[in-house]
Amino acid sequence: MRTDALLLQPLTEADYGWLCALYADPVVMQYIGTGVRTYEVASGVLDKMMAALPPAGYWTLRDRATGEPLGGGMLMVRREGSPLEVGFLLAKAAWGRGLATQATKALVGHAFEVFQVPLVEAFTDSRNDASAAVLLKSGFHDLGLTAGPYGGTDRKFAVTRQQWLGEIKAALEKK
Ligand SMILES: CC(C)(COP(=O)(O)OP(=O)(O)OC[C@H]1O[C@@H](n2cnc3c(N)ncnc32)[C@H](O)[C@@H]1OP(=O)(O)O)[C@@H](O)C(=O)NCCC(=O)NCCS
Repeated sequence: MRTDALLLQPLTEADYGWLCALYADPVVMQYIGTGVRTYEVASGVLDKMMAALPPAGYWTLRDRATGEPLGGGMLMVRREGSPLEVGFLLAKAAWGRGLATQATKALVGHAFEVFQVPLVEAFTDSRNDASAAVLLKSGFHDLGLTAGPYGGTDRKFAVTRQQWLGEIKAALEKK
């Protein structure tokens, strides 16, 4: 997959080194799960993501012009039967350029258009305003505070396929 500025490529083991460095960065991990992860924990999660069945998956995010690795984006199913969930993280140097929004739109479009899933959800730490902004700009709706996937209280976001298709149609009609 590609966006204006990004290449989204399926995760490979060659990516573990730089990605695990992101998962060990306290700035990047401030609002994710229980915070920084050791190489063992982070690579274990990546192993699971690499083995996940579509539509779930993990994509590396690279600068489309230079190939520089910038972050990761994922579609995951936490428990059998749970809705598909989107997640994303970027190196600090890549923040503030609209890249997470591009990646989120590409991943969610993939889930709806290729796999026809009915719903995509996302959970953010309630203090993570940048992540909330990414989700709202990507067509998600704020469903308020709820029990999050890591045991605490998180803000839940969701978008249905119908809402997504409606927004695409409205955008095309505006052109
Ligand atoms: C969250 C994250 C992915 C955002 O990436 P990004 O590429 O900078 O996001 P975008 O540029 O697409 O959009 C960010 C939006 O949040 C806004 N924003 C940034 N920091 C903000 C803050 N502290 N408070 C409110 N809004 C903020 C930006 O202004 C932008 O909105 P705008 O385009 O309307 O101006 C990035 O900060 C990150 O990787 N953080 C660490 C990992 C993480 O928290 N991941 C999400 C887990 S749910």
